[in-house]
Amino acid sequence: MKKIKIADGIHMLSMNVEDMLFEGIWEIANGVTLNSYIVQGEKTAIIDGVIGWDGIPETLYKNLEEINVHPEDIDYLVVNHTEPDHSGWISNFEKIKDDFTIVCTEKAAKLIGSFYGKDKIKIVKEGDTLDLGNGKVLSFHPVPNVHWPDTMYTFEKDTKTLFSCDMYGSFGKMGEHHFDDEMTPDEIDFFEREGIRYYSNVMTTFTPMLRKAIQKSKEFEINTIAPGHGPLYRGNPSKIMDDYSRFSQYAEGAGKNEITILWGSMYGMTAKAIAHAEEVLKREGIKYNKLEMPLESESQMIATVFKSAALIIAAPTYEYKLFPPVAAALDEIGRKKITGKVAFRFGSFGWSGGAEKELAEILERNKMKWDMVESVEFEGSPKEEDLKKVEAGIMELIGKMKDKIVE
Ligand code: FEO
Repeated sequence: MKKIKIADGIHMLSMNVEDMLFEGIWEIANGVTLNSYIVQGEKTAIIDGVIGWDGIPETLYKNLEEINVHPEDIDYLVVNHTEPDHSGWISNFEKIKDDFTIVCTEKAAKLIGSFYGKDKIKIVKEGDTLDLGNGKVLSFHPVPNVHWPDTMYTFEKDTKTLFSCDMYGSFGKMGEHHFDDEMTPDEIDFFEREGIRYYSNVMTTFTPMLRKAIQKSKEFEINTIAPGHGPLYRGNPSKIMDDYSRFSQYAEGAGKNEITILWGSMYGMTAKAIAHAEEVLKREGIKYNKLEMPLESESQMIATVFKSAALIIAAPTYEYKLFPPVAAALDEIGRKKITGKVAFRFGSFGWSGGAEKELAEILERNKMKWDMVESVEFEGSPKEEDLKKVEAGIMELIGKMKDKIVE
């Protein structure tokens, strides 16, 4: 666990976590940070908490003492969000102190009651404040569904620090640099990629609410954005707002100037057409990514599809339906409400078709509103005329994706 001073009277305690599945689902190949914040006036508040993740409460207490905070002196636990990566430490904390007050929204209070059985709670609404003394005043601003219905921003007026919780977060472990203005260009690129993965894996379902939260954050005069995961933004806080705004467009069909081939092949017949598709994409100078299902991690698959301006779905019929790993991937993309993509499918069949019918069902069931180029199906191995149709489909896709590119 690291402790970093971020302003007078405000410290961050941050720890890197890896070798776990985020939310029990998402592989975090590059880890993630969990950030807590201590605000010290005459009274002391801790905003979100990371205890319990390393299983050693003493780690937190030792770090607190190094900034002259004794755990028993903490008056308020501000729970911006009840998901246990932010609140899971409450049970441990109450073992050493049981007269603290939890500050949270009404929806969070209900969850805290059911998760931890706590009831000493101060429920706050939009604009409510908590004066800690010595000039430190916290104000509270609900941002529902960012990422659960319970979530809020906390703002500290003296230092103009926005504690944004999951909003403006990112996957990826932090090394020696914690602020945007310390990062190298490679680190900035790394956290943008990890930010896309985090947004697409965890947040994208709630994109309409995230848009409102972006607008709400613009109402504050901000020196520093201090999220629950990933770097802090003080050099240029508006960059992460702009990045999130762009990610919200990716959720609704826009993407970088690249195509993702989401594919699977049983015995290599669909793969022959993929080889041809790659030649066409290279000839046209289009950057592309290949995701072979089921070998790709779900986390990376979602992120790669999310950030692409167009998709090629290359998968055969399997037992009268779409090749199951590709069907499962598309269903997951649909559950994440990634809408409006332009896409083109081709694939082989043996004794009957059926893949196309299931693809249509997946798109319809999840209300994906994808703009599909007419599919190409071929019996067995693709013939010359089939490859020509695949090429024509790709050229049409390239034409359509031009309107979708947002870098
Ligand atoms: Fe960082 Fe929704 O938890």
